[in-house]
Amino acid sequence: MRIDIITLFPELLKSPFEASILKRAIDSGKAEIEFHDLRKYSTNKQKQVDDYPFGGGAGMVMQIEPIDRCIQELKGQRTYDAVIYLTPDGLTLNQKQANHFSTLENLILLCGHYKGVDQRVRDHLITHEISIGDFVLSGGELAAAVLCDSIIRLIPGVLGDESSALTDSFQDGILAPPIYTRPAEYKGWKVPEILTSGNTPKVEEWRDQKALEHTQKRRPDLLK
Ligand code: ADE
Repeated sequence: MRIDIITLFPELLKSPFEASILKRAIDSGKAEIEFHDLRKYSTNKQKQVDDYPFGGGAGMVMQIEPIDRCIQELKGQRTYDAVIYLTPDGLTLNQKQANHFSTLENLILLCGHYKGVDQRVRDHLITHEISIGDFVLSGGELAAAVLCDSIIRLIPGVLGDESSALTDSFQDGILAPPIYTRPAEYKGWKVPEILTSGNTPKVEEWRDQKALEHTQKRRPDLLK
């Protein structure tokens, strides 16, 4: 999978891809990430990429031309399955969408800043608009990193333990059960006995039960 990220602040985005699972996915060639500095596509000497909103009002608006030039250059090199704009008024990201995006080959992500982008970008160049939650970030970069992480870890072979993505919270529509590791007792706090019993069917039953209770308590909406 290849992901091209269009951003005003490439440096904001680098470190999530330089460690742990994302780094491994990139090093093994399962994911390829390229950053594109939008200022390089500016048409004026000041490298300006934003302007005042028509009709007045506070805040600056990202102009269509640099964004279009960047996207067209990329589209000249390969075919893209989705051009995603990160924005707080997009569709809220969930596991189902992450699963879907992880099956695609080439993606473009556009990170917004200031008041957002000229509406014509959204109308004519963008195929999906994604929010990572009902809160406002300073820009789309951190949201793009979150989206990339949620997608890349699902690419087959990226996670060491093949089954572990399947037991994530949300993957089967409910939250994950509690987990424990050694020591079996710490400061008098004990691990549930069933987990050290070696009785695998009972352990599975316990986990299903706990997952259900946890979901009932925290996210009853998921059970409807
Ligand atoms: N840009 C600013 N806030 C955002 C959010 N919550 N999700 C995606 N992109 C954003």
